[in-house]
Amino acid sequence: MGFATDAIHEGQEPDPATGAIVPPIYQTSTYVQEELEKTKGYDYARTTHPNRQGLERCLAKLEGGTAAYAFASGMAAIDAIFRLLRPGDHLIVSRAVYGGVYRLLTKLLGEFGLAFDFVDTSDLAAVAQAVRPATRMLYVETPTNPTMILTDLAAAARLAHDRGVRLAVDNTFLSPYCQQPIAFGADIVVHSMTKYLNGHSDSVGGAVILTRPEDAERIYFLQRSVGAVLGPMDCWLTARGIKTLAVRMEQHNRNGMAVAQYLEAHRKVRKVHYPGLASHPQHELAARQQRSFGAMLSFDLGSLEAARRLLNHVRLCSLAESLGGVETLISHPGLMTHASMPAEVREKIGITEGLVRLSVGIEDAEDLIADLDQALAHV
Ligand SMILES: Cc1ncc(COP(=O)(O)O)c(C=O)c1O
Repeated sequence: MGFATDAIHEGQEPDPATGAIVPPIYQTSTYVQEELEKTKGYDYARTTHPNRQGLERCLAKLEGGTAAYAFASGMAAIDAIFRLLRPGDHLIVSRAVYGGVYRLLTKLLGEFGLAFDFVDTSDLAAVAQAVRPATRMLYVETPTNPTMILTDLAAAARLAHDRGVRLAVDNTFLSPYCQQPIAFGADIVVHSMTKYLNGHSDSVGGAVILTRPEDAERIYFLQRSVGAVLGPMDCWLTARGIKTLAVRMEQHNRNGMAVAQYLEAHRKVRKVHYPGLASHPQHELAARQQRSFGAMLSFDLGSLEAARRLLNHVRLCSLAESLGGVETLISHPGLMTHASMPAEVREKIGITEGLVRLSVGIEDAEDLIADLDQALAHV
């Protein structure tokens, strides 16, 4: 079946009891047993429940994995895959990574004996150099948040596998509609489902999609033991959002390109970071490993004051954290999503004071451009 068909039907069969075309929300914590040691397949909602199982089947299918697990947030999902490693193991992470991942490693997991290095994963020679005998995972965000730097997935997978290292990819910025890392050799994919998968900014969630049975078994053990699970209502909302992923992403793609081209031509904008533009240094790689370019972009206005003036004057674009919803969100990475990174680290990876991030929604592109145009007039 095609992607759009799977997004609508996989794991979303009509309710066998009533014929309801939309699976009901099983808003229950426990399941009555028929007799001792005999259940109908469910016993307690932390272990699993029908809404989570349906969503997980759909996620595995869309990313081309063999198993998927839904978590209470993207960070819970990412924390779970880092727990595949043990004290003393070493992890290589894209240096321009989401600020929450940076915080999780530097402020928490390091204290439990996990060793890690932040490396520019767009430079695979640097990655090869960073590999140690204890390295067990290469964790990549491509494109990176918010600098839109790509990692060559096929080459990174070869490099990792030659050295007995797993490749894990955060695919949040593109969704499986625009990029499928497992097809390029990734072993693990993670998502903040809060973003494109849900797509409507009405729930927080995360996902881990796996290819290796031993990893899948361990992640399921972690999911039900730690309990950072996604509840029935949030699974239902996310599954409903996924049904329109293909059509939403088509409009996101069109709007992303239109807004990027508008910004690139504006005299007050110093630089636009969008892999769909020919001016992006990795445009060809993006065209090779992505089905399309998505709707995340960032641009530099040269100073914090200029960025502040723009952000304080937008009307249709909303000044808010997060991304991937139908509505356009605008933010200042340095003061918002990446505030937990020290200023010198931000500077090194290109998160300048004048950098603004846009998650271009699916409104009419002319309206978005008109809003940015009137706000830029105040800069
Ligand atoms: C690329 C990326 N990965 C992971 C996360 C964390 O996801 P969540 O906020 O659902 O915990 C985010 C959040 O913004 C993100 O942008």
